[in-house]
Amino acid sequence: MSDLEKNAGHRYYRETMFDREQLIGHRRPGIAPAAHTKTLPEAEKHKLTLPEGLDNGLWRALARRRSRRRYRKEPITDAELAALLWAAQGVTAEAGPFLLRTAPSAGALHPLETYVAANRVDGLAPGLYHLDVRGFALELMEEGHIGERLARAAIHQEFVNRAAAVVVFSAVFRRCMAKYGDRAMRYICMDAGHACENLLLAAEDLGLAACPVAAFFDAEMNGIVNADGIEEGVVYLAAVGRPE
Ligand SMILES: Cc1cc2nc3c(=O)[nH]c(=O)nc-3n(C[C@H](O)[C@H](O)[C@H](O)COP(=O)(O)O)c2cc1C
Repeated sequence: MSDLEKNAGHRYYRETMFDREQLIGHRRPGIAPAAHTKTLPEAEKHKLTLPEGLDNGLWRALARRRSRRRYRKEPITDAELAALLWAAQGVTAEAGPFLLRTAPSAGALHPLETYVAANRVDGLAPGLYHLDVRGFALELMEEGHIGERLARAAIHQEFVNRAAAVVVFSAVFRRCMAKYGDRAMRYICMDAGHACENLLLAAEDLGLAACPVAAFFDAEMNGIVNADGIEEGVVYLAAVGRPE
């Protein structure tokens, strides 16, 4: 067993993998449900009022963001894709060896890697690409349309195939686990959430439709981006297209 495999977070990652055999079991976890919200009925209440004038891009995007799964056939542009990738993982400063980005990351370690399956992107040939964060460039890994393969790996969620592009976030576990040990998996999931939410808000502001996706068969999704499931594993996806 490798150093990584002994890590509690890594064990959690492996033990919660979806595969085709155990998916049904996962849907019925045997945990009683909880109330949707919590209030303190005895507590004195201070009613909250928003400041005036919160109608610029950020606030509009926050108010309007929805998970959108219906996409038109029209492509998005490579510039729109660039904007989404910059929102998710764009480098905004350097601090010693660290590249600081639009999204925060525990210890500035940035364990995420970003891949793009371009299905219909004007100015970019269909294919699978890896984002070179430092050079802000896409590196071609595989030519051709991989939408169907992605959708199959995403538990047959067909909208993943209909998306103009799918952004795939993986984690290089060691980057975070070498510093934070058993607690690292928590931070990795938070980092992925920050990056993906930035992308979703950017999509909303650009008038695009986007949906986060975390339900996928791990081994199949890892296989698509050549992640081995030990050193590196896919943690989150975002499907993007023009809204229907
Ligand atoms: C961690 C996470 C995983 C999700 N995975 C999926 C998914 O696999 N497929 C899907 O259609 N939606 C997925 N969603 C979207 C949720 O269904 C959606 O956020 C929720 O229904 C609330 O709707 P809203 O995003 O429009 O506010 C996911 C959302 C989150 C935050």
